[in-house]
Parts: sequence; C-alpha cells; structure tokens
Amino acid sequence: MTDRNTSDLLIQVAMRAEALPIIHLLSLKPIGRMDPNLPSELWQGIVHGHCISLVTNGCDPEFDCDRIGTESAAIVAFLALRITRPKLIFNAGTCGGFASQGATIGDIYMPTRFLFHDQRVALPKFDAFAKGEKTTADFPKIRSATNAKHGTCSTGSSLDTTVDEMAFFAAESVTCKDMEAAAIIRVARDFQTPFIALKAVTDLVDHRQTVQEAFLTNLKFATGRLADAVDHAARVFSAV
Ligand code: ADE
Repeated sequence: MTDRNTSDLLIQVAMRAEALPIIHLLSLKPIGRMDPNLPSELWQGIVHGHCISLVTNGCDPEFDCDRIGTESAAIVAFLALRITRPKLIFNAGTCGGFASQGATIGDIYMPTRFLFHDQRVALPKFDAFAKGEKTTADFPKIRSATNAKHGTCSTGSSLDTTVDEMAFFAAESVTCKDMEAAAIIRVARDFQTPFIALKAVTDLVDHRQTVQEAFLTNLKFATGRLADAVDHAARVFSAV
C-alpha cells in the first residue's frame, strides 16, 4: 500500500446507511475496496484541514446486507489501521440506549468504558479476555463539541437482548449497546491508536417497542445526528 492512503483520522462505520450522511456532510470521495477479498469500502477527503478516511464493513455478497457484528468490525479495523495509519480512530454508529439511564432517541454517546456482553469463558484469564473490558481517556474537547453523553458501551453480535443480558447491563451500569466498539478498540490497542466511539441512539433497550421496529423507524433521524456529531468532532480534532 502507498502513503497516499495514510490519514490523520480514520472513521469506521458498520453500515452504509449509517455512513452515507457522514460521507455527504464531509464530502468524502469513494476510493474503492481496501482489499479485493473483502467488501469493505474506503472513502477519503480533506476535512477541516485534516486527511480523513472512512471505511464501511461492506455488503456481504452472499446475504446481500451490511456485514455488521464483531468479526467484520475486527477484520476491517485491522486492515484500515494498517493501510491508513491514523492518529486517531473513531467508531461511528448507532446503538441501543436505556430510558432508565436517561437516554432518548438521537442522543449521542461517547463512552469511555467498553466490554462484551455475549462472550463468556469460565476459565482463569480467559474470563477477563472474553469480557474484554477496556477504558479510554476522555477527550473533553470532542465531548463538548458533540454534546455527547458519558457511559459504558457493551458490544455483542445480536441486535436483540436476552433476559440474562439485561441483568448484565444493570450489573455493569451499561449505558449503550452496540455490535462493534469492543471489537474495534481491541484492534486499535494493538496498533497503539487512540480510540473514540460516537454512537447515536436508535432504540431504547428497556422500552416495549421491538428493537427492529424502533431501529428502522429512527435510523434516518439518528444517523443525521451522528453525522453532525462526527463533523463537529472532526472540526476540533486538531485540538485533541
Ligand atoms: N445498534 C442500534 N441499536 C442497537 C441495539 N439495540 N443493539 C445492538 N446494536 C444496535
């Protein structure tokens, strides 16, 4: 890979529908695939004086939908970090929030604690590895520019929530639930690259409306809010 791909900031987004409002707002240009064997797509542009790369997980050729979830998140993070060598990686996406924790649809979360809620291995050391708990430094300028809420993000590869997971969320004071962040931060650590998650709430996990109905109803609104947050964060990026 050539140096022309190196970037100041890498933004990783799972779904095309989550990425398009950001791509349009930042006027990023399509570059194409990072690797012929992976459907992940790369966009780039100069934004607020910074070279920005955005990658999506891409469309699965067999199932004809975005490759959401932790395995694609980790593979794409590895490749994108290796190619673009950014100073900072954002994972921008949607999440489930909790009404009991004060979340409303369209809120932006910038968690500083990450873990997995669907990985359990009751063996010494592997138990902590499976839970994958990691914390990040706070970035106060980015937090205030995006008006983002604090909290803990828990990651799993399912959109819905089981009764046991609800108990886990309560015990761990989880404030948002997604399908990528804890997988990406693990790879970002391997590259010693600072990591920030910006997550817009599409659904409330502790609400009686089904997650799929809320997600589809609120996706456009939440991703619009997400794009504004990413733009504001990119504006103050040099001040980080
Ligand atoms: N993305 C948006 N809503 C979500 C939820 N409830 N769980 C996991 N990922 C999500």
